[in-house]
Amino acid sequence: TEETLVLVKPDGVARGLTGAILARIEAKGYSLVDLRLVEPDRDTLEQHYAEHEGKPFYEPLLEFMMSGPSVAIRLAGNRVIEGFRSLAGTTDPTTAAPGTIRGDFGRDWGLKVQQNLVHGSDSPESAARELAIWFD
Ligand code: GTP
Ligand code: MG
Repeated sequence: TEETLVLVKPDGVARGLTGAILARIEAKGYSLVDLRLVEPDRDTLEQHYAEHEGKPFYEPLLEFMMSGPSVAIRLAGNRVIEGFRSLAGTTDPTTAAPGTIRGDFGRDWGLKVQQNLVHGSDSPESAARELAIWFD
């Protein structure tokens, strides 16, 4: 069975949407393997977002991710990586499809970073790398 890293980002936790997001994950049928509240330091976030270093939204993204706690989830199930990405919806919450987490709960708040509630690993390689960062 496959595993992925899911984060309920600081906007999701601050808005009290953790339970609603977990309910969708559980209703879809995936298994919670591990879950914890985390307040990542800059070093952890630099590792996690290494692929985005140098992009205009990189610094605002790190600041946003340090603005409050996130919930880190080790999630398991067949094809869970693509399955969770499908539940989450596309990156921009304004246009993410209704029925998805980002489409139903997210919007543009006029900030330098897209606050889009959740993160999900985008490949088996990313999942292995990110799970090691957040859970080991
Ligand atoms: P994650 O699951 O969080 O990795 O989202 P993603 O895979 O849909 O997006 P990506 O990995 O490309 O970007 C990581 C995060 O950076 C996004 O979730 C957004 O919070 C932010 N971000 C990405 N692209 C943009 C952009 O073009 N503008 C802004 N302002 N923020 C962005
Ligand atoms: Mg990504």
